[in-house]
Parts: sequence; structure tokens; C-alpha cells
Amino acid sequence: MITVKTISDLRQVRADLPYQVGLVPTMGFLHGGHLSLVDKAREECASVVASIFVNPTQFGPKEDFGAYPRDIPQDLKLLEQHGVDVVWIPETEQMYPPGFQTWVKVEELSRHLEGEMRPGHFQGVTTVVTKLFTAVQPDKAYFGQKDAQQSVVIKRMVTDLNLPVEIVVCPIKREPDGLAMSSRNVYLNPDERKAAPVLIRALKKAENAFLHGANDAEQLREIMIETIENESLASVQYVSCANPDTLEELTGSIQRGLLSMAVNFRKTRLIDNVLIGK
Ligand code: PAJ
Repeated sequence: MITVKTISDLRQVRADLPYQVGLVPTMGFLHGGHLSLVDKAREECASVVASIFVNPTQFGPKEDFGAYPRDIPQDLKLLEQHGVDVVWIPETEQMYPPGFQTWVKVEELSRHLEGEMRPGHFQGVTTVVTKLFTAVQPDKAYFGQKDAQQSVVIKRMVTDLNLPVEIVVCPIKREPDGLAMSSRNVYLNPDERKAAPVLIRALKKAENAFLHGANDAEQLREIMIETIENESLASVQYVSCANPDTLEELTGSIQRGLLSMAVNFRKTRLIDNVLIGK
């Protein structure tokens, strides 16, 4: 496994990589969710590149950029174990050179859900992912359904900018109790950690109701809110039942939907989602 930092070193190494090249973009502090993306890329591609970059522009001023967990030595060990060929750890000064003022913005899809709660977040994501794609020039890039909106936004960007990369979305990896794996789970204290599966419980309860004929979007949102409100350590930021393609909130009876939510546990903000219907 080769580790590179500068874009010129990356380009040199990239030139010799056999087709196809798969890219797994991450912010590090890797867990089973990230590694499932790596494994999928390893399965499908002759070459696998992973990037580790805690991207400052996708964090709001009051968010956890400074506190975001980091452990590069452990990440490198895991990536090597999972057969990655090249790890790129970009330098902030190269990703955002002095005077930086060029952004990639997916207008409409970035406004809903996470975008509404985290203004500017997706502009940071789409800009950095464009830069990662431009430098690595992957044939395929791997993203997680955990960040459902991120995957939708990036697919739109790839279509709109005619980027020559195929986006592969991989299922959510969960802890044995159902909590979606996340680098932010380390922020939870033991009581909060015990309470955190309330997200998947709420999503499953709504999904079950849907499977048993409750197909009213408002009712599904109410089921989720009620479940979370029963957990005293959790406070709902939003729950949503949205069109999985446009991310617009649904009303009335539905045939398919993206159930999603953001829930706060004191200082820790968790998100999760489930797709329902066909
Ligand atoms: P990060 O949060 O590190 O996640 C990297 C990738 O891992 C994302 O595609 C995310 O959806 C996926 N992932 C995280 N948890 C997962 C889980 N439990 N199961 C499956 N996949 C999971 O997402 C980002 O970084 C950044 O926004 C990035 C795309 C790297 C741009 O900075």
C-alpha cells in the first residue's frame, strides 16, 4: 500500500494503476461502514484508492470540525488489511489554496433535509468530492446509503457535470443493536450509547406500519416522532418521509419513500434512514 499526500505524487501513482480504479472518499476514523465500501471496491475494481480528509468546508461554524475524531495510524492499518492500493491524505493548503473561491453547488437537492439544517454543508461536500474526482480520476466511486442525501446529491452532480465516474451506493452497516456505524458514535456517553438505537427502532416501526398498510406520509412521520420522544435522552431535530429522488417532503398516501431523521443526544447529532416501498 502506497500513501501519498501531494496531488503531484498522487497523479504519478495514479498513472500506473490498472483499470478499473475505484475511489472510496472518507474523513477517516474508519469503521465497518467505511470498510464495507472498501471491500466492495476491492471486489469490483483492479485498483482501490481511499482518501482521508476531514474537509473543513462541509462543517458549519458551530459544528465539530476541530473535535472530529482522527486516527491516521489506525486508519492506515485497517486500509492495508482490506487490500487498498493507494491512500491519499490531502493537505488542506493544497485542497484550499490561499484565495480559494471556486465552488460546486447542486442547487435544489442540497436545500432539503440535512442541507436545511446544515447550510453550506453540501456545497462543501460537492466541492471537495469534485476535487477528489479530478485528482484521482476514478472509474467508480463508492458512497454509503448512511448519508442518503449525500449520495443523491453526488449522483446529480456527476450527471450535471458529465463526470466520467460511476457512483456505487452501498448499504448501511450497523452495530449488533442496530445503531448505524458512524465516526461520531464515539461522542456518545454510555447512557446515550444505550439509547441511540432509538433511531433505527423509530424507522423500523414506521416501516412496519407501512408494510401493514399505513401509507400516509404524515402518519409515518408521527410514528417516528412519537418513538423518539419516548426516549428521554434523545431530542428530534427533524423526521422526514420524502421522495427518494427529489428529496421533497411527501404528503398523503405514498408508494415509496425515504424515511430519515436527525436526532440529538446532548452534543452528539446522529442521522439514519430507511427506504420503504418500491
Ligand atoms: P465519512 O463520514 O467519513 O463517510 C465516508 C463514506 O462512508 C460516506 O460515503 C458514508 O456514507 C459512508 N458511511 C459512513 N457510515 C456508514 C455506514 N454505517 N454504512 C455504510 N456506509 C457508511 O461522508 C463523508 O465522509 C464525507 O462527506 C466525504 C464524502 C468523504 C466528503 O468529504
